[in-house]
Amino acid sequence: MATGTSLSHVFPLGSRLNERGHVEVGGCDTIELAREFGTPAYVVAEDDLRARARAFVQAGREAGHEDFHVVFASKAFPCTAVLGLFAEEGLWCDVASAGELHLALNAGFAPERILMHGNAKSVSELEMALRARIALIVIDNFDEIDRLARLLDVVQSAHAPGRAESVRPAHVPAGRTVHARSGTGPHAARSSQDVLIRATPDVRGDTHEKISTGQADSKFGFSMADIPAAIERVQSVAGLSLQGMHAHIGSQLLELEPFRREAAALAQIGSGVGGFSIYDLGGGLGVAYTEAQHPPEIEEWVGTVVGAAHEAGIPPHARLLVEPGRALTANAGVTLYTVESVKRNVFTWVGVDGGMSDNLRPMLYGAVYEAHVADRFNPVGAAGETPCVIAGKHCESGDVIVRDASLDDPRPGDVIVVPATGAYGFAMASNYNGVPRPPVVFCKDGDARVVVRRESFEDLTARDVL
Ligand code: LLP
Repeated sequence: MATGTSLSHVFPLGSRLNERGHVEVGGCDTIELAREFGTPAYVVAEDDLRARARAFVQAGREAGHEDFHVVFASKAFPCTAVLGLFAEEGLWCDVASAGELHLALNAGFAPERILMHGNAKSVSELEMALRARIALIVIDNFDEIDRLARLLDVVQSAHAPGRAESVRPAHVPAGRTVHARSGTGPHAARSSQDVLIRATPDVRGDTHEKISTGQADSKFGFSMADIPAAIERVQSVAGLSLQGMHAHIGSQLLELEPFRREAAALAQIGSGVGGFSIYDLGGGLGVAYTEAQHPPEIEEWVGTVVGAAHEAGIPPHARLLVEPGRALTANAGVTLYTVESVKRNVFTWVGVDGGMSDNLRPMLYGAVYEAHVADRFNPVGAAGETPCVIAGKHCESGDVIVRDASLDDPRPGDVIVVPATGAYGFAMASNYNGVPRPPVVFCKDGDARVVVRRESFEDLTARDVL
């Protein structure tokens, strides 16, 4: 393949083969990155993250919905640098635990741009959300309504008459530390909380069953049959202010039709009660993990969900939220590995220095990736390549990164690039087999900087109490 060529849509925007024939990401030569920062390493093109964030926001504008906001599903890449960048770009953020709330606040998201999800929120998580005065808690079940009612009761009874709500902190720029109110006193919380109700609209998209969430038997949200009772119950709690409905039907969806059905279901609930002021359609837009995959473009997806919302009767003045996770980050990142061993039996096994500890997705969902030698790049399926299996270093047979790879004569010492690893790799990484988790390296215009350092052996024992 000629040098200077740009690489496929699976790679971060602007990736190319440089004059030396090496894969370049964010203007940085991946062979040099491997030398400087070691492998495995998550490499992220900063401009790509920004471009995708802007594409989502712009698409909302173009779809003609004024009050449209893009909420980053932080679980996709929960590191401060990524969160801070999206906060800077004006996105909102969704969190699914107290830890994610801590990360979002710490990275600079204003509380009024944060939503909290979860099917099993603890009392302390709800209390932290109330104290931080986040925009919306997305209620998943009846027990949560009871918990919130009790927490708000405590809050209200603790409020001295005439006492003003505690002061909301000014927005703090990315990179600065903002903590949820410290101290545990309920008086630090406000006395009323805006909420959404999560509906399970009985919409099944075509995706892996482990990441499908909109079907009737999902563990998430209220069934359509229970929605009227949930609305009534929420409205009966003085401190809860019901703003609207939420649904998230699943992840890595490559078709648009399920999103139309989802919008219609939420609109129908809204019209039954005279309309809501907020409709949150969740995330789920799939991405290309291999060159052969062509998911809907961001513009097409946003246009479809906004159009479907309007067609279904969601009023143009309502606030519309969408919650993309992987579509913002997956293709912005690649993972670099080094080949440690090559051996042949029935297959050619290429053993690399990472694996299921940095990318659990092949193991969990049978996810398919592609791989390339960083300095002997060939397009997928090129003639003369060696069919091989890229295996991780862990003590399990299922620890395979790419089952159907083909590489140009792979040998120990080669740097391997696996694209589209910017979502849920870092998030689900572990220390299995005592492997320290990889660093995250941001690249932009040829400059590389570590935004999360590699774990050390000291980190592995840091929590020991002996
Ligand atoms: N909103 C809610 C409420 C969610 O639960 C999720 C993902 C999203 C938004 C973002 O979904 P996305 O746009 O990223 O598909 N570990 C799995 C993905 C689990 C997703 C869970 N919820 C994977 O690696 O495929």
